[in-house]
Amino acid sequence: MRWFPQSLSVRLFLIVLAGVVLAMTLTTNLQRRERARVFSEYRANMAVTHIADTILLLATLSPAARVSVTAALPRDEWRVEFDSPPPPISNEAVLVYSKNLNERLGDAAQVDEAWLCFENRTSCPYSVVIKVRFKEDQSLWVAYRLPTHERPHRREELAMQSRIAIFISIMSIVAWGVVRLALRPLQRLVQAVQDFGRDITRPHMDESGPIEVRKAAQAFNAMQEQIRSHMAERMHMLLAVTHDLKTPLTRMRLRLEKCTDEALKDRLQADIGAMQSLMEEGLELARSLDTTESMQAVDLDALLQSLCDDAAEAGLDVTYRGPAMYGIIVMGRPNGLGRVFENIIDNAVKYGYYARVVLVQQGKMACVRIRDGGPGIPDESLQEVLRPFVRIDTSRCRDTGGTGLGLTIAVNLLKVQQGALSLRNHPQGGLEATVQLPVAIVAK
Ligand SMILES: Nc1ncnc2c1ncn2[C@@H]1O[C@H](COP(=O)(O)OP(=O)(O)OP(=O)(O)O)[C@@H](O)[C@H]1O
Ligand SMILES: [Mg+2]
Repeated sequence: MRWFPQSLSVRLFLIVLAGVVLAMTLTTNLQRRERARVFSEYRANMAVTHIADTILLLATLSPAARVSVTAALPRDEWRVEFDSPPPPISNEAVLVYSKNLNERLGDAAQVDEAWLCFENRTSCPYSVVIKVRFKEDQSLWVAYRLPTHERPHRREELAMQSRIAIFISIMSIVAWGVVRLALRPLQRLVQAVQDFGRDITRPHMDESGPIEVRKAAQAFNAMQEQIRSHMAERMHMLLAVTHDLKTPLTRMRLRLEKCTDEALKDRLQADIGAMQSLMEEGLELARSLDTTESMQAVDLDALLQSLCDDAAEAGLDVTYRGPAMYGIIVMGRPNGLGRVFENIIDNAVKYGYYARVVLVQQGKMACVRIRDGGPGIPDESLQEVLRPFVRIDTSRCRDTGGTGLGLTIAVNLLKVQQGALSLRNHPQGGLEATVQLPVAIVAK
């Protein structure tokens, strides 16, 4: 159902509103019917009273005088037939009120038949039709029509409609408020899940509120605890394995010293070196997923300045240009951010000879661009190199000595700080890595 709104709040609001409108329509309809029923009963009573009064009057007259008097009755309301057949009567006309009428007439006259036809005006144009017999045994049909009642005034109807509109508007506002209130716990849960994705050490969810909300919060907190201990366990295991591997590797190195075949010795030493760096980087990758370092305000300008200064001091061709007037503060983990930029600057120098680092602010985002003077990366591999252990052919040679984890680590570290890394081949040559982070405060 594409037309159905996607937002749960809007859906619930529409359902509640539809219920209110339906209830209103039904109530108004029932009210209208009841009013019409009472009104028609009142008119029937009025018609019966009129006709009874007229017949009582006729009863006081002689049979001959009755004929001339009835001829004078207004034609549009009365029809009286002495000898002819009865006026048209609907089949569905109801025989009622004859008892009532007889009681009113007493001994003056006898009602033989009586029809009341308010419901079906087309088949019976009269309100009441009766056959009456006077004491002298003179019978006659009397049909009487009440003047048609006027429809309720247009202005009254409009007032009624505007009252309904006001009621529905008030109910809409109330319904919207109720829906927002009811969905607030769900929004809190969504926020908690999002925060948890960024920081597994985030404080537990508040476990207060209605039973269902409390249960959901308890389940969420339990899950958070389980994942946290699972991650810690994994980290401990990795640390233990790495630590235990160090001893046999050192032993192998020592034993190699006794090897007389120089060529074999060199090859084995290179292999041991590769194993060692794999172990270290693997450990680094695991640490990048561990978000135990707490989030804090970090002056990105100062951080980049000191990283680039350190690199330049170490003899690397690295320069930095920050914002002219003020620093840029982001919420992040200082060590994690440091590792991100170190890895990218290291790549730029390793594969592209130099690194030109620039920090700018674009709207609410801090934007760090690191450009080099190398061959770049084929466009089809720009995404692939972000995956673990992916190294493109040109850099597979041993002298660059990487394991293909640096960019993966950077991506992981940025993800938990709401940041993002993207790569592109600059139109004027070299690779340009861009790191984006949401700005917390702009320091003046
Ligand atoms: N500035 C760059 N210029 C050209 N190629 C690059 C650049 N940066 C990364 N690459 C390519 O992307 C691959 C993945 O980089 P990544 O940093 O993840 O691993 P690495 O540098 O090979 O090893 P590590 O960083 O783990 O020591 C590299 O092997 C290289 O082929
Ligand atoms: Mg690297």
